[in-house]
Amino acid sequence: MNSLFVLFAAVIPGAAAERWPLRAILARAVASPVRGGQLARGGFCYYRADMQSLTNKRILVGVTGSIAAYKAAELIRGLRDAGAEVRVAMTRGASEFITPMTLQALSGHPVHQKLLDTQAEAGMSHIELSRWADCVLVAPASADFIARLAQGRADDLLSAVCLARDVPLALAPAMNRQMWADAATEKNVRTLQQRGVLMFGPAAGEQACGEVGPGRMEEPAELMRRVAEVFETGLLAGKTVLITAGPTREAVDPVRYIGNRSSGKMGYALCAAAVEAGARVILVSGPSTLATPERVERIDVESAEQMLAAVLEHMDGVDIFIGAAAVADYRPRQSERHKIKKDQAHLTLELERTPDILATVKSRRPRVFCVGFAAETANLDAHARRKLEDKGIDMVAANWVGPAAPDTGGGFDSDTNALRLYWADGELDLPVASKDRLARQLVASIAQRYERRPPGRRQHHNIVELRGGTPRKT
Ligand code: PMT
Repeated sequence: MNSLFVLFAAVIPGAAAERWPLRAILARAVASPVRGGQLARGGFCYYRADMQSLTNKRILVGVTGSIAAYKAAELIRGLRDAGAEVRVAMTRGASEFITPMTLQALSGHPVHQKLLDTQAEAGMSHIELSRWADCVLVAPASADFIARLAQGRADDLLSAVCLARDVPLALAPAMNRQMWADAATEKNVRTLQQRGVLMFGPAAGEQACGEVGPGRMEEPAELMRRVAEVFETGLLAGKTVLITAGPTREAVDPVRYIGNRSSGKMGYALCAAAVEAGARVILVSGPSTLATPERVERIDVESAEQMLAAVLEHMDGVDIFIGAAAVADYRPRQSERHKIKKDQAHLTLELERTPDILATVKSRRPRVFCVGFAAETANLDAHARRKLEDKGIDMVAANWVGPAAPDTGGGFDSDTNALRLYWADGELDLPVASKDRLARQLVASIAQRYERRPPGRRQHHNIVELRGGTPRKT
């Protein structure tokens, strides 16, 4: 608690400190409402236990000039505690209330302040910053900032980022109650809401100026809950999704295998995105060092044969199957019982085809919505379309891999990727982005195509089977 005291003493300069006594600020920081929440890090920061959807999310926190700017410190700390990566952009007005140094220390990154600052733009330009974020939250959002946003202004860094973004934007208004009630603010807020901007608050109560009414910034814990909700889309609510991920290993002898460079990142990101979309998710994973995403049932396998068996065993009640695993196409015809000795100048391995998991699922469960991947080093379009038709599946997510994909890190074992989606009568490009973001975009497209599938391909889960006390669709 002592370090907290020093921190706030350092960050609340002159006039603001006079109007908002430190003792009251500390009391508020520690007494934030945390319905069902957990206490973290020595009593300073609170977060709710059900905020898994913030894990690995990239949140850009915008801070504008308001006495509530001090709450941004607690918000940033809380978001990071909940697993989000946070960057901060602040207006010149905001730095009158809280220092960039404080927000830099709490976010772990330099604070972005100026538009067209050569040095800052060389590090991460305002466009890159807007592409980096999964969500932009401006907290506090002053009346002036809201007005400037409503006008589409882009003459400072934060408003330019807000204008350039293609991700959800949420504002946490903070201002005097009369300013909030003014017809001009009301109109600006309505304009922004019509453009899809989310308003988190304001809350009502005692204000810094001594008046009472609506205009207080929502508490950080509430803002975190609302941001978490942004990612909980519910697009696949009630659906069961089975996803394969990672590589397979085909044994050559007891210590050697044929494998590939898949890390599982793409498939695991899909699992997390499907959970956020409200689905029950089963993951059949080849060897991977990744942690199992929250709320995902994971079955570990090694070979293509084992992956097929695990998939078929868990297909009951599955609505959507996604084959993101890099399944070996060939395996040694014979796996030696003992380690092969290097007593020959040449060694020939005879290979045979592995079972095609995707094609098997589609032929045995024609009504399951099946999504395959295509990893290609040439002719992406032609190969992807052929896979769609040959395997009779509903969608293909194609990616360039290896040296053919220098911009995306090669598809395999990188944190970024790019996808082109194909279905019978359409396609969609998902440009280079983090695998987490791509996974959310792919899940949204799958949900859309799933809803529009022809009636002949719809599932009828009309029997409920009780297995181990858990009702399941069959
Ligand atoms: O795991 P990462 O490091 O994040 O890398 C991600 C990825 C590059 C592995 C992923 O994005 C990807 O492309 N996965 C599919 C790789 C692959 O095996 O592609 P393919 O074109 O060889 O296979 C086409 C489809 O058939 C895939 O859905 C595959 O799962 C499936 N398949 C392949 C062979 C087989 N025997 N059975 C199958 O079901």
